[in-house]
Amino acid sequence: EVEVYKYYADGHWHKSSSAKSVSIINPTTRKTQFKVQACTQEEVNKVMEAAKVAQKAWARTPLWKRAELLHKAAAILKEHKAPIAECLVKEIAKPAKDAVTEVVRSGDLVSYTAEEGVRILGEGKLLVSDSFPGNERSKYCLSSKIPLGVVLAIPPFNYPVNLAVSKIAPALIAGNALVLKPPTQGAVAALHMIHCFHLAGFPKGLINCVTGKGSEIGDFLTMHPGVNCISFTGGDTGIAISKKAGMIPLQMELGGKDACIVLEDADLDLVAANIVKGGFSYSGQRCTAVKVVLIMDSVADEVVEKVKSKMGKLTVGPPEDDCDITPVVTESSANFIEGLVMDAKEKGATFCQEYRREGNLIWPLLLDHVRPDMRIAWEEPFGPVLPIIRIQSVEEGIHHCNASNFGLQGCVFTRDINKAIMISDAMETGTVQINSAPARGPDHFPFQGLKDSGIGSQGITNSINMMVKVKSTVINLP
Ligand code: G3P
Repeated sequence: EVEVYKYYADGHWHKSSSAKSVSIINPTTRKTQFKVQACTQEEVNKVMEAAKVAQKAWARTPLWKRAELLHKAAAILKEHKAPIAECLVKEIAKPAKDAVTEVVRSGDLVSYTAEEGVRILGEGKLLVSDSFPGNERSKYCLSSKIPLGVVLAIPPFNYPVNLAVSKIAPALIAGNALVLKPPTQGAVAALHMIHCFHLAGFPKGLINCVTGKGSEIGDFLTMHPGVNCISFTGGDTGIAISKKAGMIPLQMELGGKDACIVLEDADLDLVAANIVKGGFSYSGQRCTAVKVVLIMDSVADEVVEKVKSKMGKLTVGPPEDDCDITPVVTESSANFIEGLVMDAKEKGATFCQEYRREGNLIWPLLLDHVRPDMRIAWEEPFGPVLPIIRIQSVEEGIHHCNASNFGLQGCVFTRDINKAIMISDAMETGTVQINSAPARGPDHFPFQGLKDSGIGSQGITNSINMMVKVKSTVINLP
């Protein structure tokens, strides 16, 4: 009998009154690994009420005490790295070592956020009136940052712990309450992470984690009048949320089609290493994965050979064995990837390896001579399949990058720093990496997407700042 994990609300663990559960399928075995409660709308209402009450008291809790609790939670999280990582292996097939890294990185993120929070929230501003025409120095404006209220955090399956704490820690240090809706795959890892916050001793009702079916509580949560801010990372659902949400700040990080532009003067070994790392880490299931290589034709053959030889060394198999390529998260995801591969095959792409799939496990595949009429030139596989488009000019590469509806990150490889800067300026993406594959971290760097890739900017400092509002008090002298 598979255990049904309880949800967390008002400082306690609860069974849902629905008596229903949601199954989490292990991507490797394709069998039910865990179950979580299918919460009801009524339960969500209760959580929201409790969170609102807890937030009022939390906002008055001294900043240093809030930071102290976060530091404590960070330490406990790191102590629990092994069992949490094990959940990540079973729920999302993350390679064992990467799973541990995710938890440790999360602990560091929480501590850094506590430190950053005491600095930036410990400082206000004083303005005097006589700098604006027509005014005497008769008004003093004191402004500081106040919390928004209840923050709804919705992280994705690929980093259920790290992309949860990247929302939770800034929300809490800033004096907000938190409702977490974890992804189905990764929900138990998230519940375990929440348990660490519970052990740290945060006040009841301040942190909550509801699980359930999107069809039952998805829209209900995102359109709930008790929510004062939504921080979401994921796919197209984010676009739908942004259309339905109320007049509240939204922080969204959605998909990407991160382009890797390779110039003729690039260090080709560096290029090949970054294409393999950027394209195939966690089997390509990262928003920041290299998703299309745009390479100058004159160096393409050499790079393709180097990439192929490095790909031959990637290990393929179960996450428990710490293989490089592990099963993708769901069967429907594997089917979608296969659809893109078949489309490219029909339209004549060159297969650098044979296409191979067993269950959710897809062997790494490089597709050369991809053309813009193929779906894979534009769509995000979120799997270990990487297209190469050969270009005749840098302008052609920039044009392809900018014709995408996404604009998360991109990268450019060249030894000419002036060209690199000019290309970076021309690329319509939130970040451009010079001579390295795209990546979100270090976690205090700003992280943002243009166009369909998102709203607002993340990274520790930016997240704290988006989860507060400026409040002014003006002293008027007689
Ligand atoms: O896929 C989400 C995105 O945040 C990836 O993060 O650290 O793998 O670059 P990272």
